[in-house]
Amino acid sequence: MERNVLICKALLLIFLTSVSAAMVINPEKKISNLPFIESFGLQGKIIPYIGSKVNLTCKMKHAEAGIFLKAGLAIREGGRFRYIFEDSGHDGLVAHLEITDVSKEDEGVFTCCAFSAGIITTKTLTFKTAPYPPASI
Ligand SMILES: *[C@@H]1O[C@H](CO)[C@@H](O)[C@H](O)[C@H]1NC(C)=O
Repeated sequence: MERNVLICKALLLIFLTSVSAAMVINPEKKISNLPFIESFGLQGKIIPYIGSKVNLTCKMKHAEAGIFLKAGLAIREGGRFRYIFEDSGHDGLVAHLEITDVSKEDEGVFTCCAFSAGIITTKTLTFKTAPYPPASI
């Protein structure tokens, strides 16, 4: 995993302006095996209230691994951040970045980085929090 993180970081630093494009670094790999990101974002109608717990969910195909970056830097697990991986069948991999106690500082550009056999594909999202709703009594 650590190696993927480094590769992904290096690529993102070089290709910062084209982070949504697939970057092929091993042209001999078969096209059918290219990692692909179907979607990246909050699931369902979840509102990211400050203080709540949310998943930023990245649905990938043909990926061996996925990592998350914030502002181009790899997010390490620990503290309020947790990586959860799920095998979704048919060569699908779902990675969740679970953020506990969402805070204003979490706002920004997140990247999901899918990796397979030397090929990296990324997708970004802009995360914005919502203030906790006033009590409706
Ligand atoms: C995030 O997704 C995982 C896996 O589906 C789930 O176990 C967890 O409860 C989810 N967390 C939130 C905050 O929805």
